[in-house]
Amino acid sequence: MKLTSEEKDMLAGKYGEGIAAAMKIQVAMGETFEAERMVPITRAHVALSAQDADLWFVEKLLNLGATCKVSPTVNPSIDLKYLNKNLFEIPKAGINIVSSTNEAYRKIGATLTFDCTPYLQQNVPGFGEVIAFSESSATPYVNSVLGARSNRESSQSALCAAVTGIVPEYGLLLDENRKGEILVEVEAKVETDFDYQLLGWCYPELYKGLEIPVFTGIKARPTPAGFMNFGAQLNTSGAVSMYHMVGITPEAPTLEAAFGNNKIKHHIKITDQDLAATRERLCREPGKIDFAMFGCPHLNIDQVETIAKTVGERKFAVDFWVLTSSLTRELADRMGYLDVIQRAGGHIIADTCIDVPPCWQPYYGKNAVTDSPKCAYYNEIRGIKFIIRPLEEAVEAAILGEVLK
Ligand code: F3S
Repeated sequence: MKLTSEEKDMLAGKYGEGIAAAMKIQVAMGETFEAERMVPITRAHVALSAQDADLWFVEKLLNLGATCKVSPTVNPSIDLKYLNKNLFEIPKAGINIVSSTNEAYRKIGATLTFDCTPYLQQNVPGFGEVIAFSESSATPYVNSVLGARSNRESSQSALCAAVTGIVPEYGLLLDENRKGEILVEVEAKVETDFDYQLLGWCYPELYKGLEIPVFTGIKARPTPAGFMNFGAQLNTSGAVSMYHMVGITPEAPTLEAAFGNNKIKHHIKITDQDLAATRERLCREPGKIDFAMFGCPHLNIDQVETIAKTVGERKFAVDFWVLTSSLTRELADRMGYLDVIQRAGGHIIADTCIDVPPCWQPYYGKNAVTDSPKCAYYNEIRGIKFIIRPLEEAVEAAILGEVLK
């Protein structure tokens, strides 16, 4: 790699050991991917996880004196106070790791948003911006929907980028790597936000490669939640950091623009039968449930509104959890949705992830309903069996205590 004299000084430790350590990792990555140079970033997002490796890494950089040049937003952790009051007494070890992680990220200079949808609020890049984002739903959203440029960073590489303010230029930062290679003709009817959960899960089941898919046949622009669901599932069922939707996403005004000089390597069709088969494999049989959980990724205000309007004046028969950003929770409060959901016996919790142990321990081994395949997939290792249904149907199930169909 060709480094500028300033970058060489950063690597040699002239600006401190913390920057040197982050640079060492980034230069090694750059050499691995044959990057020619480093380029500046304007934004970063770190998929903080409040687990051992995450804490070890941020504290290591911190102890070497690193601070962030570009303050990254961060993923959710746990709202300890809320869960302590409303669910169970969180074990001391859990409290310690969460508090230490939050403190370490505060000290290193992160912006403590604790939200996994930064691309909807707080950290929204514009077209062409070079950024370093980790988090599975974030990378496809920023690249595909917004036309910003980020590789599929890990939490650690995104934190290094936040510290140095630069990234090695390779992969999706380069024009030639942003063109499609797989043509995906969507013949299936895809209209609702839930249809995008299924489509996002289905495509990687049919094609496992890492090339950029180009989707055609989508009749109308998905909602922000539709795009969010789509990217989250593409990057959980598979590893898709970027896609095009012809006539919809900004780098694909036409099929020709989406493929550029690339030849079509594979041609895939997704029919109603394919989506029905995915639904059957994924969504589980009806049955009794012990609780309901939504917000993986964090729900936006429109989705919270849907929940509030669906439940109306009725009550939930089981524990009911909605996970959002703190901004969305505040908005829900102002708009009266928080009141409706709380009166029905539910909770809206901010800053919290479905996947940070031990926060959902009382539910381990139980049955539940969600609208998110990602939520179901991550919780399988804890023995939680999630039945997956569209948001409104799942809310109805929580009112009954049972998924009927
Ligand atoms: Fe967000 Fe945690 Fe799900 S980061 S997408 S709630 S696994």
